Amino acid sequence: MSIIVFGSINIDLVATAPRLPVAGETLLGHDFFKAPGGKGANQAVALARLGISTYMVGRVGADSFGTELVNSLQASGVQTNNVFVDETVSSGVAIISVDVRGENQIIVIPGANGRVNQEDVGRLSCLLPKATVLLLQFEIPIPAVVAAAKASQKAGLTVILDPAPAQKDVPDELYPLVDIMTPNEVEAGQLVGFPVDGEESAKKAVEVLQQRGVKNAIVKLGAKGVVCATPQQSFFIPAFPVHTVDTTAAGDAFNGGLATALCEELPLHQAVVWGAAAGALAVTKLGAQPSLPNRETFDAFLKERGVVSR
Ligand code: RIB
Repeated sequence: MSIIVFGSINIDLVATAPRLPVAGETLLGHDFFKAPGGKGANQAVALARLGISTYMVGRVGADSFGTELVNSLQASGVQTNNVFVDETVSSGVAIISVDVRGENQIIVIPGANGRVNQEDVGRLSCLLPKATVLLLQFEIPIPAVVAAAKASQKAGLTVILDPAPAQKDVPDELYPLVDIMTPNEVEAGQLVGFPVDGEESAKKAVEVLQQRGVKNAIVKLGAKGVVCATPQQSFFIPAFPVHTVDTTAAGDAFNGGLATALCEELPLHQAVVWGAAAGALAVTKLGAQPSLPNRETFDAFLKERGVVSR
């Protein structure tokens, strides 16, 4: 069976610098590169590289970035028949700064991603009988996210929502449509209305998300690890220690690893470990999609770190 990703597709314009600039500052950087990104597309590529049959549903503009983005999705093995080329708008772009510690700042110009609507939900609906899992994020309009979650829940898919980028005004009706929600600390804080900055506050945040109707809530704490609450239990998984080069797309890699494990019918506890492993590998390389591991690298990492791979 397959996984569907309904979300954004961006070209990333990346500057590396000794540190991130402050407001009003001009800073001399180290380097510049362009790479395919977008939270939706990154999650699709993460899945396909790990060997999962993956459908991408979303939009690009009728420009050279759009062509490049679709080609690169295909090169990673993602099925792109349902990526609509919107003649009326440019492709999504992300302006990213990365410092020497691997921390980043990102500004996203949604472009075609901002036009995703009910027509795209219609395209997604045609794929539902082929899939077991749907991956969503917040880089496309929220009404489309809600409609996709509704249709997918009705069709019996597992709905995984990465509420990124952070949003304050999430409709109440969305929470009960979500089987697994995976915010990072900033996103969790925006959703629950109090700061989330470590294991204790993350435990409180997952409780709030579950009270709102999310079945399983996972807070990604970056280098600190992951807090997860299921209806039966809650647990903490430490991060895999690695040398961090660039944290861009670590969260997307996590969701790719998590969904891959679930697609392979592993329990949620092990799926979270797979998510953490995929996220750890992604931070060891520069760029969003260039940093996402293939299955061979992923399995070798699990073995090296003493994790049973199946
Ligand atoms: O999650 C990382 C992604 O966020 C980047 O690839 C960028 O396009 C933004 O969407």
